[in-house]
Amino acid sequence: MRRDDNILTLAIESSCDETAAAVLRGERELLSNIISTQIPIHQKFGGVVPEIASRNHIVNVMPVIDEAIRAANVGLPDIGQVAVTYGPGLVGALLVGLSAAKALAFALDVPLIGVNHLEGHIFANFLSAAELEPPFMALVVSGGHTALVHVKDYNNFRMMGQTRDDAAGEAFDKVARVMGLPYPGGPEIDRLAKEGNPEAVDFPRALSEKGNYEFSFSGLKSAVLNYLNAQRMKHAEINKADVAASFQRAVIDVLTEKAIDAMRKTKLDTLVLAGGVAANSGLEDRLRKAAEENGLNFYYPSKSLCTDNAAMIACRGYYMSMAGEVSNLYLNAVPNLGLTDVGG
Ligand code: KG4
Ligand code: ZN
Repeated sequence: MRRDDNILTLAIESSCDETAAAVLRGERELLSNIISTQIPIHQKFGGVVPEIASRNHIVNVMPVIDEAIRAANVGLPDIGQVAVTYGPGLVGALLVGLSAAKALAFALDVPLIGVNHLEGHIFANFLSAAELEPPFMALVVSGGHTALVHVKDYNNFRMMGQTRDDAAGEAFDKVARVMGLPYPGGPEIDRLAKEGNPEAVDFPRALSEKGNYEFSFSGLKSAVLNYLNAQRMKHAEINKADVAASFQRAVIDVLTEKAIDAMRKTKLDTLVLAGGVAANSGLEDRLRKAAEENGLNFYYPSKSLCTDNAAMIACRGYYMSMAGEVSNLYLNAVPNLGLTDVGG
């Protein structure tokens, strides 16, 4: 693969409720990483409202890009390539970032690189750990996806398995919502779980047989909802901290067991955590311990790089363009883009 230590990559991310831009020098030197979050705007609706998200991206996208350029202490003419998330995500939200990226790439006459948001999450780890190199196993746990990906090289991935139904983050958000916690639910459950007993309620762990790397969280989500309804019908007291802790324990058990099983199967020695749910303190704790017990290296991104950001898009974009994988100006949004095998 070609390398260019000096090239500046400007990246834009607008797939959900964060408008973000970043400037990266070469492979891993992050010059700026600006994130404008819409969480307070969507909180009163209990979740992201797509139309409102698109409108706010339109308002924020240029100021966020300007700030990323300014904070990096560079000028727009110094930018050597533009990377942008083209999926998965909300179509209207993605189109705002894409339009801005295309306009900049065209005006600056530099390559445009369309980046898969989920691959971006994996690459956030390269920015937190300068020494990290493939091959490794990535456990991707975000709001919309849960997957185990064998990263053989920078541009060569194999899917080990993914979720059949709900993603882990989705389950966190839905369970939190029924418990009356604010959006986004993941951090709320994480906080509440610290005060509860993880053994208070025995929730199910799906597809737990060895050698199965697929996930399923919809049964667990329903089990929590049924438990809450049953308690309410009986007018029994609900200990929210215990429910949060027991639910979180069930999610962490499944993620940890499958990740360690996949490590044994592939004989890899490095496990990497990625996606918004990587910010969960219980998950990070448990995976670190499991990695230690099994003699594995374990990496997870710093908190600000776990959830949506453009720095990870810049990093993924850099490695794509060095391998000659650039897009043209017809690049379109792909809302349901998934994680698939990449490279030969
Ligand atoms: O990766 P991300 O920022 O957006 C997507 O690409 O989906 O992930 C967002 C998800 C949400 O479901 C949110 O509740 C969850 O990550 N999340 C957490 C925590 N922080 C964010 N889940 C559990 N514990 C956390 N501390
Ligand atoms: Zn994400």
